[in-house]
Amino acid sequence: MTSVTCSASFPASSPAADLASSPAEGFADVLVGLQYGDEGKAKIIDALAAGYDVIARFNGGANAGHTIDTPLGRIALKQLPSGVFHPHATLYIGSGCALNPWKLADEIEQLRAMGISLDGRLHISARAALVQPHHIALDRRGGGTIGTTGNGIGPCYADRALRVRNDARVNWMLGDLLGREADTVASMREVFTRMINAEGGTSPWIAEMSDLLLSLPKVADTLRAYLEPDRGWLADRVKQGARVLFEGAQSVLLDVVDGSQPYVTSSHTVPAYAYVGGDLSPKYHRRTIGVAKAVMSRVGRGPFPSELGGERSAQYCDDASLSHVGMTEEQARFSPDQLLRSDDPFDVGTALRMLTGEYGTGTGRPRRIGMLDLAQLREVVKAHAVDCVYLNKVDCLAHYFHSTYQGVPMRVHREVMSGDVMPDVLIYPGLTERSLALGGEGTLDAAMHGFVDFVERQIGAPLAGLGLGPERASLVSLAAHPLAPAAAASNHV
Ligand code: IMP
Repeated sequence: MTSVTCSASFPASSPAADLASSPAEGFADVLVGLQYGDEGKAKIIDALAAGYDVIARFNGGANAGHTIDTPLGRIALKQLPSGVFHPHATLYIGSGCALNPWKLADEIEQLRAMGISLDGRLHISARAALVQPHHIALDRRGGGTIGTTGNGIGPCYADRALRVRNDARVNWMLGDLLGREADTVASMREVFTRMINAEGGTSPWIAEMSDLLLSLPKVADTLRAYLEPDRGWLADRVKQGARVLFEGAQSVLLDVVDGSQPYVTSSHTVPAYAYVGGDLSPKYHRRTIGVAKAVMSRVGRGPFPSELGGERSAQYCDDASLSHVGMTEEQARFSPDQLLRSDDPFDVGTALRMLTGEYGTGTGRPRRIGMLDLAQLREVVKAHAVDCVYLNKVDCLAHYFHSTYQGVPMRVHREVMSGDVMPDVLIYPGLTERSLALGGEGTLDAAMHGFVDFVERQIGAPLAGLGLGPERASLVSLAAHPLAPAAAASNHV
């Protein structure tokens, strides 16, 4: 049996990789999800945070989300970067983000109530776009076709590109709200009023949106301390030696251009965009870190080649989210152990969702479930030159041993004639339930090492770590790999 270093915390500084900048300057790494979101990026950032000075968001807004259990209690973060619980880390929200000021102020207040102040630690670009009441109303009314999260993100980015509608400015930014508060609030109110008048005054959200507008001045007061008017703020930090970790929201396959239109989010999720939405020159880029999960999921509609149960699963999850069927309802209706033994992949997918807790963090929607798609990962790794990959939820593969698969099914690529590749499904041979359980003790047996080698050859990138359980300590670092950072102490609260 070979042992590996097992630590919940790795510094990012690797002697080999600082190619782009002078020794006195810092660098930036970009961490992105490689699938359809919800790969457990926050958990990896939590483990890596000790090695970075700044953790920065560059895209998306309150459509992202992760729940963090801390010694001080549980908190759901949507817009603040994941490094919030690492007191040494400065946090930056870049101009590429769509900011929901109400929800952000609420996150800040929740933290304050837990005794965590972000004063002096949080900087928000003055050019971050503001989500406005009419964006939320439009998304709730029209986002169903795509299955959006209803946070107004799409309409917000659309208005940023539109700039002016009916002679009225519609792209308001945080700097506007804090610098020209009365004008900004009046404009938002006017656009929303026009919208509801055009609808004959029947919008079900009139009262809620009016309350949002009324509370905006108070919210602005909360956010004022964090406004960063200097567009060169992050660049200056890096010039002075700061090490930056960009945290991607959503994931590469949901990119507005690169993903499968129209079933995508409305921002750029690919790693290159970190340097546009994160307000830094790409000259400082050092490494691209990918995060994937072994039991895959997707929320909302759109292609999902390895989905267990295919179209039936997609339809079921769509109907379930419309009728507000979530974890509680599924638990009342189904026995996951029984479903797992069914020879219908749809049932196996339902069982895996229940057994591995795959429900939307913000929405509670049941997520569509799929087998690990290595063929797809290979394409993503290649397209974005991903340097190393963390694979989460590997322990969850153990459930397959209680299914009719009797092993781990995965979508792989196979070389056929003249080097062409074709996707194919195989039951991975050699892995046992016992091998997966051993990882939880910080050791991997030969079978697990064989699995790691197989995955690496398939995807064309080294695995830097395996998530073998929900706890921080169950993240196993594959330290033998040149790109995997070594273990270090954590500064976590
Ligand atoms: P929007 O980002 O709310 O406009 O939603 C567009 C699509 O992206 C929908 O299919 C959403 O379910 C999906 N999406 C948005 N944010 C996330 C996320 O954080 N995780 C997974 N899917 C997401």
